[in-house]
Amino acid sequence: MTIYDSIGGAPSVRVVVDKFYGRVLNDPQWAHYFAGVADIDKLKSHQRSSIAAAIGGPEIYQGRDMGAAHATLGITARTSMRS
Ligand code: HEM
Repeated sequence: MTIYDSIGGAPSVRVVVDKFYGRVLNDPQWAHYFAGVADIDKLKSHQRSSIAAAIGGPEIYQGRDMGAAHATLGITARTSMRS
């Protein structure tokens, strides 16, 4: 059994992604990174298929590669550290 199946498949991935963006989009530390994203629903859809594919689901990720998607965001090893 895949991780995808064991956690409940697509409905579970959807809940996780909804909760994740519900948190980051309302957190001042993270929200500004997403201010320029025109279509959050599309981003969430890509995030769902990315995660699902990574944990053994049948979805096919059709978003950008990780380097291209994050290239202009200025993310560094220190980004996640609260000062
Ligand atoms: C393991 C870490 C991460 C993974 C697996 C990941 C995954 C993804 C995926 C799958 C997309 C969708 C790309 C697309 O729609 O073509 C995306 C977009 C995005 N991610 Fe990440 N991400 C990670 C870390 C981060 C971090 C740390 C930040 C901010 C601090 C971030 C900010 C963004 C933003 C703003 C977008 C939208 C970019 C745009 O539409 O122009 N990500 N990410």
